[in-house]
Amino acid sequence: MRLAVIADVHGNDLALEAVLADIERLGIREIVNLGDTVSGILNAARTADILMARNIPTVRGNHDRWLVEKHPDSMGAWDRPAHAELQAHHLNWLAALPATLTLPPGLLLCHANPRDDTTYWLHQPADDGSMRLAAQAHVEALATGATANLLLCGHTHIPGLVTLADGRKVLNPGSVGCQAYRDDEPVSHIVETGSPEARYAVITHGDAGLDVTFRLVPYDHLAQARLTERRGDPEWAEALAAGRLA
Ligand SMILES: [Fe+2]
Repeated sequence: MRLAVIADVHGNDLALEAVLADIERLGIREIVNLGDTVSGILNAARTADILMARNIPTVRGNHDRWLVEKHPDSMGAWDRPAHAELQAHHLNWLAALPATLTLPPGLLLCHANPRDDTTYWLHQPADDGSMRLAAQAHVEALATGATANLLLCGHTHIPGLVTLADGRKVLNPGSVGCQAYRDDEPVSHIVETGSPEARYAVITHGDAGLDVTFRLVPYDHLAQARLTERRGDPEWAEALAAGRLA
């Protein structure tokens, strides 16, 4: 089995197209998507169109949920512009997405963790606002009851793989579309991968066991940075241009 795992596209259509081209170049046919697909100030509708046309197994992210649950007046700065762009059929697609999905052979797809779509799993904010690897006990606790051998999550935008005491593995492929952001929940913190390339992961499951490759894919990130600059968000522009915030 060869499977490409994408997550946190966040409306970055150019990053998504580059990742899909890379997946095709590798000859991989199976793709799964771990949510937070359209939220952001880039191109929400075009991103949804690309993914909807491919029928990729997809779970719902917290932002996907907020886009269909909240009134636009109470949406945050990432969701409101995406909502303004999306049409009814896009929103209906988001509303129908499951929170988790189990797929053969022994895969569980979720957005943040199997229990909820907002609690960080593999990385957590440290006191200084940077992100660090979460304590093993925290990772184990959120995996309780999940029987799949390979647990796939996104949400932190940080690629990572943690092995649980019983041999199960938790994989985060990183983010396709957003390499840096600032958030105030659960405490003020900054996520930065340090470079602008789109991230995703390839899983190969064969006789030799599980093989995971983290991929970094160049795309026209400066075009997207200029777009967000024009749309009045210098922080998004900075994140897209450099994968870090000043
Ligand atoms: Fe998320």
